[in-house]
Amino acid sequence: MLKKSLVPFCLVASLTFGMTAYAAPHPSDSAFDNKIVKRIKVDNIYKMVKELSEEPRVAGTKSEHNAVTYIEKKFQSYGYDTERQPFEFYSFSGPTDFSFSVSGFEDTDWDLGTFTYGVNGSVTEELVYAGLGRESDLDDVDVDGKIALIKRGEISFADKVKNAAEAGAKAVIIFNNSSGTINGTLGGPDDSFVPVLALTKKQGEELLEKLDAGEELTATVTVEGAETKESTSYNVIATKKPDKNKDNGQIIIVGAHHDSVEGAPGANDDASGTATTLELARVMANMPTDTEIRFITFGAEENGLLGSYAYVESLSEEDVENTVGMFQMDMVGSRDAGKLIMYTVDGEKNVVTDLGAAAGSRLSETVNYGREGRSDHVPFAEVGIPAALFIHAPVEPWYHSPEDSIDKISKDKLQEVAEIVGAAVYQIARPDTPALKNAHVAPKPVDYDFEERELE
Ligand code: BES
Ligand code: ZN
Repeated sequence: MLKKSLVPFCLVASLTFGMTAYAAPHPSDSAFDNKIVKRIKVDNIYKMVKELSEEPRVAGTKSEHNAVTYIEKKFQSYGYDTERQPFEFYSFSGPTDFSFSVSGFEDTDWDLGTFTYGVNGSVTEELVYAGLGRESDLDDVDVDGKIALIKRGEISFADKVKNAAEAGAKAVIIFNNSSGTINGTLGGPDDSFVPVLALTKKQGEELLEKLDAGEELTATVTVEGAETKESTSYNVIATKKPDKNKDNGQIIIVGAHHDSVEGAPGANDDASGTATTLELARVMANMPTDTEIRFITFGAEENGLLGSYAYVESLSEEDVENTVGMFQMDMVGSRDAGKLIMYTVDGEKNVVTDLGAAAGSRLSETVNYGREGRSDHVPFAEVGIPAALFIHAPVEPWYHSPEDSIDKISKDKLQEVAEIVGAAVYQIARPDTPALKNAHVAPKPVDYDFEERELE
């Protein structure tokens, strides 16, 4: 009743004030939602989460490749042609052993950190302070054949190590400039690196004090068992073409990452999003649309969003232009996590959050939004594609742990996200709603709020 009476009002409003570039509310939105909602079988999603999370799916390993094959077969069984997009990357497994000792500090328990892409080696030499490790800092000291003690800040960890190595240093210690230990990355492998370890601010300053007082310190830096190797990971892409005579040229992407971190079965992170992507592909396989929908599972997200960066890089300018929204589902099924939220990289609403909030308000409750990166929506946002991460926050305590397993997965949570994302996508992909490209605004927006929610 209420909905019906809104129609003429909105028509009048849009004619009178010229304020809407989009269609007036459609009385049968819930009928359209139902086409999606009724078809979703949460047991399918749950079963796929279970099968995907039998073991960790670390990018570049056999188990990731098994997951890729599993995902392809599922898409194909729904009638899709699939594309497997390979990309190379460097995978790093951390040192099995690392240590630090300094003459005169025999009783100290060093609070150490390591760096991703750091190299192995064992060096015993004099310790010399080299400031922030910029080229200008290294001009003023002699680190040749020695171990450089460097403070965090100003330039990257990699540049500090490279500059010190260039000046002849045999190893590097980087100490923090704020509290806590550093667990940093050198960004990628480099032949010029020398062994490097991280130290806390407090302990670094203790060493610096002695050096400033003119003491000569001999240190040993040892890093063993670290390994960097070139691997291949894959994205899997299944495309639903629009109906031939209805194609409006716009593209929507629905995605998740299928890889997980070492040691974690990744049931929630992110078999949940992967399985939900698969189920939405199944549900939408034969539905009429005027929009192309690309269902994508990304590889190597946990290694720095590598799959989604590779995918976005492979897009033509025209594809980028035509892609009106990217829905990323990451960690969408934990019984122990908080409520659903939509994160954008810039903390601003966009067409994707508008559609998600509206679908939420029709189906359960309005979904709020916040600001966060940390998943595959980032590379899309960086090229100007409206994108959002759908996630439950605060996240569960099992995040990135061996406990991220199927027994912590809630069917209700999976169901809710599948419905909301499915209905949001269908609202814009179905033939009766105008192309976003022309409208620049989602149909029927609702009020929803920015939230500064605790994540972990
Ligand atoms: N699913 C997480 C992202 C996440 C976790 C978002 C907790 C919000 C709260 C994702 O798989 C992940 O772990 N991302 C990395 C960042 C990435 C650039 C390697 C992270 O957050 O450490
Ligand atoms: Zn994740």
